[in-house]
Amino acid sequence: MSGGPAYADAGPASLAPGTAELRSVAGRAILLARAGDGQYHAVQPECSHACLALAGGRVRGSSIVCPHHGARFCLRTGRVLGPPAIAPIAAFPTRLSGDRVEVWLL
Ligand code: FES
Repeated sequence: MSGGPAYADAGPASLAPGTAELRSVAGRAILLARAGDGQYHAVQPECSHACLALAGGRVRGSSIVCPHHGARFCLRTGRVLGPPAIAPIAAFPTRLSGDRVEVWLL
């Protein structure tokens, strides 16, 4: 290994479509979500509105709705799709490796 950036293991590809859960990836908390179309996405676990946890938010299609004040973010890009958030959240590339999900932590 070069020690440079690389895909890191994010655990088993065990999520049902339309769900999300906190995972630890290389010692860092990320929110792993599986969109309605079956694609896996990884985003920062805090909402950009009031820095509260996105975990527990509903996955709708390829977006997640913050459980606190209802901001909606695109799981693919992290951009804001609905208020009250203004700033995007970080979104990380994912890929499947066998029955595991891997995340590229930027
Ligand atoms: S903390 Fe997420 S919408 Fe307010």
